[in-house]
Amino acid sequence: MLSVEDNRAMTSVGAETPMGRLLRRYWYPIAGTVELEDEPTKEVRLLGEDLVLYKDRSGGYGLLGRACPHRRISLLYGIPEEHGLRCVYHGWLWDAEGRCLEQPAEPTGSTFHERVSNVAYPVEEAGGALFAYLGPKPVPLLPHWDWLVRDDLIKRISVHTLDCNWVQVMENSVDPMHTEYLHALQTVYHRERQGLEVERAPGGQAMLHHIKIGFDLYERGIIKRRILEGQTEEDDAWKVGHPVLFPNILKVANRGRGSYQFRVPMDDTHTLHFTYHTADPKPGEAIPERVEVSEGDVWDAETRRFRVATNRDLAQDVMAWVTQGPLMDRDQEHLGESDRGVILFRKLLNDQMKIVEDGGDPLNVFRDPEEAAYVDVPTEHDKYVATVAGGKRVDFGGGFGIFGAGTRTSYPPASR
Ligand code: FES
Ligand SMILES: [Fe+2]
Repeated sequence: MLSVEDNRAMTSVGAETPMGRLLRRYWYPIAGTVELEDEPTKEVRLLGEDLVLYKDRSGGYGLLGRACPHRRISLLYGIPEEHGLRCVYHGWLWDAEGRCLEQPAEPTGSTFHERVSNVAYPVEEAGGALFAYLGPKPVPLLPHWDWLVRDDLIKRISVHTLDCNWVQVMENSVDPMHTEYLHALQTVYHRERQGLEVERAPGGQAMLHHIKIGFDLYERGIIKRRILEGQTEEDDAWKVGHPVLFPNILKVANRGRGSYQFRVPMDDTHTLHFTYHTADPKPGEAIPERVEVSEGDVWDAETRRFRVATNRDLAQDVMAWVTQGPLMDRDQEHLGESDRGVILFRKLLNDQMKIVEDGGDPLNVFRDPEEAAYVDVPTEHDKYVATVAGGKRVDFGGGFGIFGAGTRTSYPPASR
């Protein structure tokens, strides 16, 4: 349980708050490059700021304050020039550093343009995704998380805009027990109600029970470990574990690769969930050049409920994150022993916040080019086999696990 004040301190993302200052030390994915190819401007809300991302005619990217500093119309409607973005109201031209290059309606020789500027932030591309950094200089290096920059993988991006604070999403990632209920039991429950075949674990439960969970701090964040019935400490799910990269990334392994889930704080009550999926190509399969972007579809407008019968598109997880409320009231929660991962994550957030307040670099701020060029993140690979009831191997299809339109089975997916 947290006091109302501590909860606000942990969840506030504004530039003037200690947590907002910690969060401004990181790069965040905000779009796929294909989005800007199709439409060269895009509105972005990030860390409480309204911005416009653009691609100019020379291929350069920029991220500017949304409101044109002249008379405040949205630069979403701006026209990309060779270098920079021109506001369509009176033609002021902005470059990627936020400088005003032209003010066509002002008298010849006017220096007024030198005295106005827009908010501007650096943008970098990696693996077909665009990342932004809103923090202080010196700008850290964009970490190239292994799968993001591997050129031998098939990739795609899916996004959800969540009406909730980002910490709720991260707390779910240090909560292995939810797999048995949110995913396994809920899926079985809905299958039974639909009269579909259900295969249960040997004890009759929806999936194998966790007999042990563990959490270790390490140089990138927290390693989450689990042992299910029939497993030992020799299984990958314990021995290698499951990395939660500080502050906002979960890496999910799957047979045939997996995904990075970036939880991007848009503001105090909204999160962009940016999933970067990867898969090994099948023999002879070509790797597409475009990394496509799709939007998650988890809400049924007719029944006014999330589509929780399966975890397709993360529907079950999204339901849990969002129904905790826009800003979960942690002064009303009751944490038990099985929530110790959640407690550890909160402590880590607080500790790293203090490091920033004391002028240091928090975890996962990269300054060494060699280190940032390829960040290897070991993770367990046998989880999908191990968590299935009865230990049977089940093909989740498509190489994208639960995210693809691939084959579904009666089994619930492994934990996200
Ligand atoms: S409002 Fe943008 S140029 Fe006038
Ligand atoms: Fe989950």
